[in-house]
Amino acid sequence: MKISIVGGLGHIGLPLSCLLQVNGNKVIIIDQNTEIFDDIRKGLPNFHEPGLKTLLKKALAIGLEVTDDMNHISKSEYTIITIGTSSNENDKKNFKKVVNKVIQLSNKNSNIILRSTVDFETCNKILNNKIFIQKKLKLAYCPERIAEGKALQELIKLPQIVGTNNSEDFKKFKQIFDSMGTKSINVSYKEAEFIKLFSNVYRYSEFSLINEFANIANTVNLDFSKILNIASKQYPRLKNIPNPGFVGGPCLPKDTKTFIENFNLQESVISKFMDTNEEFELNIIKKIKKEFKSKKIIFLGITFKPDSDDLRGSVSYTLAKKLIETGYEIYIVEPNITKNSINEEIYNFEEIFNITENVIIGTNHKIFKSFELDNKKVIKIGNK
Ligand SMILES: NC(=O)c1ccc[n+]([C@@H]2O[C@H](COP(=O)([O-])OP(=O)(O)OC[C@H]3O[C@@H](n4cnc5c(N)ncnc54)[C@H](O)[C@@H]3O)[C@@H](O)[C@H]2O)c1
Repeated sequence: MKISIVGGLGHIGLPLSCLLQVNGNKVIIIDQNTEIFDDIRKGLPNFHEPGLKTLLKKALAIGLEVTDDMNHISKSEYTIITIGTSSNENDKKNFKKVVNKVIQLSNKNSNIILRSTVDFETCNKILNNKIFIQKKLKLAYCPERIAEGKALQELIKLPQIVGTNNSEDFKKFKQIFDSMGTKSINVSYKEAEFIKLFSNVYRYSEFSLINEFANIANTVNLDFSKILNIASKQYPRLKNIPNPGFVGGPCLPKDTKTFIENFNLQESVISKFMDTNEEFELNIIKKIKKEFKSKKIIFLGITFKPDSDDLRGSVSYTLAKKLIETGYEIYIVEPNITKNSINEEIYNFEEIFNITENVIIGTNHKIFKSFELDNKKVIKIGNK
């Protein structure tokens, strides 16, 4: 099948583009991020995802193409949209513009897949587009649900939610996922939109709820980490309970915001979780002020989750910057990002090891287990 992927150089688009190409499709990536085209064509992705470099090289060798020219859409049977989305007005405008352009450039009877996370009822609006109707285009909402770091396994392993109008259309769109060996589940557009949003809001709420308990324990000077450890030890009903920690990243907070706006949930418990997480961060700052005797701190890990190189929505990084702004001398140690990708200096642990006894583990990468921290004063923030 001939497939265009708009936004195909992103975290969601690139693994999908490569997998579709190596599974017998002809894929063309259409992306506006022209700065990285040279690296991509050499087989070098601009973010880390296990296995992606090898797969990209393989896909390029058998015909994966990259362009910024939207006109290629007219040569495709399927166009998949994977650009970034959020409740932010600029992102909304960009998404609308891209959808309209795709509709305008699509051939009669061709197929459009929305893969970006969208507002509830987006599909129904597209179905009413005049050109979409005139051209007898077909639409499916196939949300991405992979976790970063597991993209290539989960793209195949997780069943694909496919929101369509009817079972005939479902058969058409299912072929795309069949080609990768992925099972598909057919639901309505609204069901697919709701499933994607509510799943992320649920995860956001789950992580926030445990932070709420940590905040409450803090008001009575209890060490919640110790309590949680004891309470969950060999107690099956707390088996899957998360640790308190920062709730960030490119998806959970933004999708929760979208859900609150889409369903007018300003007074719901879900809205209150935003305050919970702010309070959780404030409590960490208070702890730092109380426990560290000097303003020098070694700050380990600033990406949004362990063993990732993604800084988008990272609360650890925000905290490091806040501490710097308030006069702390922060020595960031972040082995997963290159020195010039942020404005702040990045250090090797060995070179600043003796500078202070104060250590914050903001994001707990596996590599930190090998660091000698026995004689340090360590504040560890969540994520095991
Ligand atoms: N990152 C995740 O783990 C994850 C998981 C599930 C769903 N999602 C959703 O998938 C979507 C994409 O997320 P992402 O993390 O891949 O974003 P990203 O920012 O990594 O990638 C988006 C890509 O779209 C391109 N782009 C933006 N506007 C464009 C335009 N007008 N024309 C052409 N290209 C354009 C960008 O250059 C970029 O390469 C979002 O809706 C997100 O919510 C992300």
